[in-house]
Amino acid sequence: MISMWRTGLAYLRLSNTLTGVQHRGLGTASFLLNKLLMKSVEHSPEQKMVSITWQNGTSNRYPYIYLRDNCQCTECFFEESSQRLLDIVKDVDVNVKPNKVEISDDQTKLSIIWPDGHISLLDAEWLFQKRLSEETESETKSCEGVTTRKVTLWGSEFKDHVPHMKFEDILNDEEVQFNWLNSLYRYGIALVTDTPVQEGQLEKLGNLVGYLRMTAYGKTILVSTRLKANSVAYTSHTLPLHSDLPYYECKPGIQLLFCWEQIPTKGGANTLVDSFHVAQQLKKEDPHAYNLLTKTHVLFRHSGADILGEYDFEGARPLLEVDHHGRLLRCNHNEGTRQCFLGVPANKTQEMYEAYYSLTKRLKDPKNMFVHKLSPGEIVVFDNDRVLHGRTGYTLTENVGRCLESAYIDWDVARSKLNVLGKKLNKGPVARMDSTLSVTHPWTAA
Ligand SMILES: [Fe+2]
Ligand SMILES: [Zn+2]
Repeated sequence: MISMWRTGLAYLRLSNTLTGVQHRGLGTASFLLNKLLMKSVEHSPEQKMVSITWQNGTSNRYPYIYLRDNCQCTECFFEESSQRLLDIVKDVDVNVKPNKVEISDDQTKLSIIWPDGHISLLDAEWLFQKRLSEETESETKSCEGVTTRKVTLWGSEFKDHVPHMKFEDILNDEEVQFNWLNSLYRYGIALVTDTPVQEGQLEKLGNLVGYLRMTAYGKTILVSTRLKANSVAYTSHTLPLHSDLPYYECKPGIQLLFCWEQIPTKGGANTLVDSFHVAQQLKKEDPHAYNLLTKTHVLFRHSGADILGEYDFEGARPLLEVDHHGRLLRCNHNEGTRQCFLGVPANKTQEMYEAYYSLTKRLKDPKNMFVHKLSPGEIVVFDNDRVLHGRTGYTLTENVGRCLESAYIDWDVARSKLNVLGKKLNKGPVARMDSTLSVTHPWTAA
């Protein structure tokens, strides 16, 4: 029966059409589903799969156990919290085969009767959203895109196009809140303007999203020049591009840098770079270096003392942290706290350094970086896993200083808030990973 199904080239061509639908968002997919009703269903006991053919002629295959596991009835699924109630191993044979599979008269529902009499009634729209990729398709897709998330990559030309919004508007308007978090998710950066220069403003943003992340340096950190500095950050030296706290096992995902006071003289500006964009260049131009940097752990260490007392941190992770498809999750570049490459023997160390140079040179390339000098009242908010930040050096004079307040938010709460707002404002849950897709949109100036 499998031979009757659409496989090979014909299948790929058709499924690309479907992928195109999803690129444009769920709203479009739902719209098309009004026309893409289920035309027919076949089931193959040998393959243990059901194949649904949609009205436009495309097909998707669903293993029996996958359909039984994902039954949406009130016995199997607690819709209020999107949690499974079914105890699959206890209640369902892994080789379960339906007694009967059929499409409702209006072609919008699939009804499945299981051997124990249990009935699953699955919506066409749900089935479309939960469709699985074919093996050949996954192989093609795993080579595409540098990350699984739907992000837009940028270079130095992005300087004049960084999304910005007023502090009060974020606090008072959910549409602006959504745009702020969505910009942060998609571009990895957003600029908050017109913030009253006083204490407690970063807490307000943190509380809006969920909470600020506590670290050994406090909940908020004042980054001003200190006489007895425990970090280069508190001096007036140039600060090279870096990601914060790579030695933390749960590294903070988002950083907020709020400018209280800025020097009027030269320097003290922030350098910013989209490391995912740079990693994509590296993957193309020096794949061997990319590969080494994704596979080799770097040891990071930082010790000292701050408001919570003495600390001595140590952690190891690759500079380019990837998922099981080899797609980027984090860039952990931090020159200051980098100790050594772990498990790299003497005869491979030169090669490792060459890979490190290959990445770092590209990160520093002016075509990949832009400089923004914060003004009092501005907060630059960026993805600490993706956008590396640094600072140009400056000279302190007697009457002027430079003072920034810094804080962190975890991506967990920020993505959750973005999805909640998206649903509320009818924009869909936007910060979702997709099991079949990998998308990176190149950014172009409008
Ligand atoms: Fe930093
Ligand atoms: Zn059920």
